[in-house]
Amino acid sequence: MSKFVIKGGKSLCGEVNISGAKNSAVAIIPATILANSFCILENIPNISDVHTMFQILKQMGATVEQLDATTYKIDATKITVTDVFFPQVGNMRASYYLLGALLGQKHTANVLMPGGCEFGERPINLHLKGFKALGAEYSVLGGLNASISVNAKRLVGSYIYMDVVSVGATMNIMLAAVKAEGTTVIENAAREPHVVDLANFLNMMGANIKGAGTSTVKITGVKELHGVTYSIIPDQIEAGTYMTAVAATHGKAVIKNIIPKHLEPISSKLVDMGIKVSVNYDEDSITVNAIEKFYACDVITAPHPGFPTDMQPQFVVLLAMAEGTGIIREQVWESRFQYVSELQKTGMDITIQSVKKKDDFLLIQGGKKLNGAEMTATDLRAGAAMIIAALCIDEESTISNIKFIERGYDDVIKKFRSLGADIQRIED
Ligand code: UD1
Repeated sequence: MSKFVIKGGKSLCGEVNISGAKNSAVAIIPATILANSFCILENIPNISDVHTMFQILKQMGATVEQLDATTYKIDATKITVTDVFFPQVGNMRASYYLLGALLGQKHTANVLMPGGCEFGERPINLHLKGFKALGAEYSVLGGLNASISVNAKRLVGSYIYMDVVSVGATMNIMLAAVKAEGTTVIENAAREPHVVDLANFLNMMGANIKGAGTSTVKITGVKELHGVTYSIIPDQIEAGTYMTAVAATHGKAVIKNIIPKHLEPISSKLVDMGIKVSVNYDEDSITVNAIEKFYACDVITAPHPGFPTDMQPQFVVLLAMAEGTGIIREQVWESRFQYVSELQKTGMDITIQSVKKKDDFLLIQGGKKLNGAEMTATDLRAGAAMIIAALCIDEESTISNIKFIERGYDDVIKKFRSLGADIQRIED
């Protein structure tokens, strides 16, 4: 088992480069199944979720060739396997995109139940509702080899209203509808940057998708999609994590290779707290300067362009370093506070105010003296929060279960070191 050993207490300063977006990559890689020739994908992050998706595609019959550090050639035209029962499928949430892509291309898919970071119930009823509206039949099998199968004789465009905003369902329905007959409208669609990225990729391949990034997405089916070369967007949450780490350690650093617009929900909160944030549009970079005191605020997570739930644990640590009492309300996931007990080991003053599930909130009293601790990452973003906590503390801390962190953060040791952090990865 590997661990991170961190000796904190230094302000992070310098520059860090942001990699391609995890949540785009894990959807765009399976979307290559829809193309009639190979695709070249650029700016692919070196993270385990991406490698897991590549392994799955290879076992299905695709060829994947690495052209340089971040560029891959994927030829999914030889895929014949539509029963996807490889164990890797159960290791990641995004394997649900195999359902949409296979349904769109082959009209059939039988996929092991997706796994991934567990923070309570992660239903897929809206994905299935969308597939059904397009004319597919589905069945969900429970038990040890729980799986979902979808089949359609024809896929026909439809109007799909989503009563809950879902990133995964919006993107999966796009994949299934892109080659359907006629027009599909997704109402109350998710507006996250990776929804737009997937739509841009599919449109470049010849699809006809309008309105991605708004709450109404219209997809007019086309007969064929061709291979393309496409560069995926920078990772909003990776950038937000480094911005938060720099701020929490009272540092000053430049975060490079970002799309400033995607960071607005995060940078506006930093500004509310009294942290200086400046954007350099010519250089696609953002500078965070938290050398002076900053103050607590209230945070409510919401679908984009609201404050991202995937930044919630990192902001708990930031609030613990602020002056005053901060509040965090989680409104996207039902139970995303299970990591709090790990952060409390450092002496952080965090209390869960229980109202009822989904209305629980955190009260974080800033400015407490913290101590080094042995923490265990409970999921990807909670693990990132633990790194930030350790970086704030002038003692040694360890973080185990780092497989969660490596699922979604590219070259985390090198990047934190480029900001002056004392962080090592050791084998236990
Ligand atoms: C994606 C991200 C995840 C992020 C989340 C919200 C990927 C691989 N993962 O997850 O990191 O935390 O968006 O930004 O992109 N819901 C339903 N029925 C469904 C689907 C979802 O009720 O069929 C609910 C969920 O319980 C949750 C909310 O919708 O309360 C949002 O979930 P969703 O946007 O679908 O998250 P994911 O796409 O799984």
